[in-house]
Amino acid sequence: MRQFNVVVLGAGGVGKSALTVRFIRDVFVENYDPTIEEEYRRTMTVDGQLSSLEVLDTAGAEQFTSLNEVYIKSGRGFVLVFSLTQEASLKEVDNLRKQIYRIKGGDTTVPIVVVGTKLDLVNEREVQRATIQSLASRWDLPFYETSAKRNWHVAEVFEDLLRQMRVR
Ligand code: GTP
Ligand code: MG
Repeated sequence: MRQFNVVVLGAGGVGKSALTVRFIRDVFVENYDPTIEEEYRRTMTVDGQLSSLEVLDTAGAEQFTSLNEVYIKSGRGFVLVFSLTQEASLKEVDNLRKQIYRIKGGDTTVPIVVVGTKLDLVNEREVQRATIQSLASRWDLPFYETSAKRNWHVAEVFEDLLRQMRVR
């Protein structure tokens, strides 16, 4: 079985852990407990092929972001997370995206998926569909709108990333 390691990055509180834990254990983490670093593993069958995914859930908190360089060096695929309820969290995705391309020596084929979280919080939504469409084409990256709470489109994120990683 092939193994792939994935790093989940993004600003603090955007829902990286909730997304990861929904994918790994199929439960929703309601309480907010800031992450230092957590590693998870699960297998997944996509297109009839079984793979093992090692998912590293990282800290969004500023005092830990110096570790991002280490994570990016070791990661094969990346989930860049922002909250649909917080427009400012897109800025961190842009920073991370640029950092990844720089650290990977300008390789623009690095497997990346961009994820907007908290799709269920419709009344708090700040990031419009048009903004996402324009960034997706400008950055040439796949975007997903998800809810870890409702389990909307969570598996699709990891399936897309796995397909990208397998062909490299
Ligand atoms: P750090 O570890 O500090 O970087 O934060 P994080 O990005 O891991 O955020 P976390 O997953 O801990 O989520 C922060 C808060 O948002 C928690 O209270 C979650 O329950 C909530 N949350 C995350 N995803 C969703 C979602 O899809 N819907 C709703 N309603 N709340 C969510
Ligand atoms: Mg976390």
